[in-house]
Amino acid sequence: MSLPTMNKCVVLAKRPERGPITPATFKKDAAALKKPGDGEVVVKVELLSIDAAMRMWLVDTRSYIPPVKIGEVMRAAGLGRVVETRSDRYKVGDLVHGVLGWQEYWVGPARVLEPRPTPDGMEDIDHLGLLGVSGMTAYFGIFDIGRLKDGETVCISGAAGSVGLIATQIALAHKRCKVIAIVGSQDKVEQLKALGCEIVLNYKQEGFAGRMRAAGSIDVYFDNVGGELLDLVLAQINPYARVVMCGAISQYNTAKPYGVRLTPQLISMKARMEGFIAFDYEKRYPEARAYLADLARKGQLKYSYYVVGGGLDGCAKALQDMFDGKNIGKTVVSFQDEGDRNPKL
Ligand SMILES: NC(=O)c1ccc[n+]([C@@H]2O[C@H](COP(=O)([O-])OP(=O)(O)OC[C@H]3O[C@@H](n4cnc5c(N)ncnc54)[C@H](OP(=O)(O)O)[C@@H]3O)[C@@H](O)[C@H]2O)c1
Repeated sequence: MSLPTMNKCVVLAKRPERGPITPATFKKDAAALKKPGDGEVVVKVELLSIDAAMRMWLVDTRSYIPPVKIGEVMRAAGLGRVVETRSDRYKVGDLVHGVLGWQEYWVGPARVLEPRPTPDGMEDIDHLGLLGVSGMTAYFGIFDIGRLKDGETVCISGAAGSVGLIATQIALAHKRCKVIAIVGSQDKVEQLKALGCEIVLNYKQEGFAGRMRAAGSIDVYFDNVGGELLDLVLAQINPYARVVMCGAISQYNTAKPYGVRLTPQLISMKARMEGFIAFDYEKRYPEARAYLADLARKGQLKYSYYVVGGGLDGCAKALQDMFDGKNIGKTVVSFQDEGDRNPKL
């Protein structure tokens, strides 16, 4: 395969103020495609993961990872094929996972990539969703931070999203657990009900707060969105409840952050609220992957991908679409010449 001389990419042009990203946030760019040195490979990007955390990487604040610099290729995990190699680790055609970025080709040391053979019955794209960070986050969030026990009631916000869809189905599969799923559209309500989730509430619908109270008290809250919803749930936690602080997407893009008021409930309910980052569990990923693959094989874990086509042209759109709630399941950008799709569960 002959490689182009230039490598097209999308870089961070301007840090967004609080509020949604704008057309000025990113810009298209190109640089000469580097030749691989000893121990290096060239990877052609096929699929990129779009993550809510990307919005945090655009601002210069203290976090678990440094922000993307102005002028730097936008950071993104992804899957690609080795197209040229000067390393013994990989041959041409191998599928690899790594922080490939919003660019057409990645060139660098083979040692920072991971080989990703696709297990039987699964697809390449699953490395970015079910078997990727979303799956790991859901598994360790539910079991390690949420310490889910038989028969408990679990409430999950962002329940039709990438992490939420997996967390919801892990909880549904757990012995006698009751799930209260919170989503942002009627289509999502219907799709989750079809999965067997009896209580699915649309937080955008009038009367939501009342329906939420009627849904009953909560032992584990898997929080993907933060903000006002967190207060509503805190009002309903049971003694010794666990609040899994997975994400706060309602706050990443907002001009006016919401001040959570009901944290004193944690005292009277002797409850705990704990944040976590899935990457800290890397050594235990095989355990989580085996569990999730087994659940999927048994038909207890259905998943979907919101695939935005267009390669580099789709990246900023996909990020915004995810914030707008257009996705069910994992949002990814495809470089493989296909249109947008989000099959039903
Ligand atoms: N701790 C970790 O290690 C870790 C790892 C991965 C992700 N996360 C966090 O987990 C959360 C979910 O991430 P994801 O990748 O799975 O994204 P996702 O859930 O696939 O996509 C985001 C979803 O959030 C919902 N949303 C957007 N704005 C909202 C708002 N103002 N209020 C309520 N819901 C809103 C939308 O669904 P609706 O239609 O339902 O509104 C949207 O589909 C994020 O907060 C992310 O930062 C944490």
